Amino acid sequence: MTEPQFEPTTTISVTVNGEEFTQTTEDRKLLVHFLRDDLGLTGTHQGCVVGKCGACTVLHNGTPKKACMLYATQVDGDEITTVEGLDRIAEENGVDMETREGTTLHPLQMGFKENHGLQCGFCTPGFLMTSYALLEQDDNPDRDEIESAISGNICRCTGYNSIVDSVEWAAAELRDEATTPAPDGGVPEECGTNHDIDVDYPTGGDADE
Ligand code: FES
Ligand code: FES
Repeated sequence: MTEPQFEPTTTISVTVNGEEFTQTTEDRKLLVHFLRDDLGLTGTHQGCVVGKCGACTVLHNGTPKKACMLYATQVDGDEITTVEGLDRIAEENGVDMETREGTTLHPLQMGFKENHGLQCGFCTPGFLMTSYALLEQDDNPDRDEIESAISGNICRCTGYNSIVDSVEWAAAELRDEATTPAPDGGVPEECGTNHDIDVDYPTGGDADE
């Protein structure tokens, strides 16, 4: 008679998009599966699951990491930011942008929308998180630097020029936002205004759902 197999588990605490979660997880569960299946954050996409495509990129303590290359237990006590956290970051920093329908976006998300930086959108969460990390380090990267930063992310349908355009657009927008004086000393006057677009944009949805 075959002995039943028990998967070892560990209880971890991880802060995801500013919210702390304490969960018991299988020791061999990948971070990408923990985020998607246990926390329901399906904006982090599962592509190759061998570290090649970058669709699963998240920020681990501020550094872009491929979530299929980490076990969930390896981020115990750490901070993870997923694509679902970008609008909160934008709001906290007073750089949020709003669609006509009232959806709050980070300037990077708006940049991809405005510059045709996505087609099917499967790769987009990974590009957004990688680009976010780049702009945290350098608010005015040139095209070569953007291309280098996103070299670990693969897009099969949009074309990379428009993705680089999108990041450049967002960088310029963020520099403008940072230097535009707010009339009341608070939120810059261009923040939170409606932009001239008439479609909504997915903030964390799953193209494969
Ligand atoms: S799913 Fe992680 S790199 Fe492709
Ligand atoms: S937009 Fe389809 S793979 Fe990049």
